Amino acid sequence: MNELDLLVDQARAAFAATQAPAELEDAKARFLGKSGRVTELMKGMAQLSVDEKKTRGAAINAAKQAIEAALAERRQQLADAELAAQLQAEALDVTLPGRRRAGGGLHPIARAQERIEAIFASMGFDVADGPEIETDWYSFTALNNPPNHPARSMQDTFYVDMKDADGQWFNLRPHTSPMQVRYAQAHARRYAGQAHMPDIRVIAPGRTYRVDSDATHSPMFHQVEGLWIGENVSFKDLKVMYLDFIQAFFETSALKLRFRPSYFPFTEPSAEIDIMFEEGPLAGRWLEVSGSGQVHPQVVRNMGLDPERHIGFAFGSGIDRLAMLRYGVNDLRLFFEGDLRFLGQFQ
Ligand code: PHE
Repeated sequence: MNELDLLVDQARAAFAATQAPAELEDAKARFLGKSGRVTELMKGMAQLSVDEKKTRGAAINAAKQAIEAALAERRQQLADAELAAQLQAEALDVTLPGRRRAGGGLHPIARAQERIEAIFASMGFDVADGPEIETDWYSFTALNNPPNHPARSMQDTFYVDMKDADGQWFNLRPHTSPMQVRYAQAHARRYAGQAHMPDIRVIAPGRTYRVDSDATHSPMFHQVEGLWIGENVSFKDLKVMYLDFIQAFFETSALKLRFRPSYFPFTEPSAEIDIMFEEGPLAGRWLEVSGSGQVHPQVVRNMGLDPERHIGFAFGSGIDRLAMLRYGVNDLRLFFEGDLRFLGQFQ
């Protein structure tokens, strides 16, 4: 093999051994650079005769072109390899499932409460709010509970270590009824002395507290109170209103309602409201869902209204109980343990 062919082979081998463009440029310099091997050969022709220069020059040029061709080929290979590596690194697997943000949502009890509010709003009821820490008067006295009533005892009601203006302990409201008294009082003040007072139609949903804890009782639970006071309302209105509500809540008209005589200090007469589904998994059993009754004249008076003119009907239902029936939950405590495996099912 002649010297020039050898040089071309060496250049090819040197180029092939490079793994990156920068290495390739170094190798190029060694052959084609200012003091590279090819340039040295050109300089070496200075002493040759004109004829010799012609043949030698042509041969060196051919070798130079072969080296340049090898260089261009290797450049392309390296560029291709780099592109392939980049594509590989940035590869997208379009068949992978998308990454979802963990979604939040409303607690099932909050959801049930919003449903209840929407249904009653559609029936023309306002939604009242009120304090969870109540005075003795609003939780008990206004509602006609005698001083020795068991609801007032430490075994049934949580007390706060602070006294109200009447010298009585504040309590964590044991029912939502104080809110109806507050709402009715404000209504009575607003229309005092006027010939006409619009009916009071209000619900009062919220947290309530009692010293009680098992599968169907929690020390913190939720009630919704309903109140309708006017000059011309009757038990019939309470019954129709509650039936409309409960059928809307459970999204069925295959549901019966019955009133069972009962006792509450703040209503007279009083009744428990039971419902019975005519179809579905709960069909055929009477289920107690609410207390109710005609608001006691003394309570109407405590609201600042005249019991001779104003007659009222009220009910108080457990929101948690309604939610348990609607969602088929058999242990109330599940609602309050904060286990996402349970809560996530309602989103
Ligand atoms: N406040 C009663 C309770 O907590 C429920 C109720 C409300 C009963 C209104 C009758 C009328 O048990």
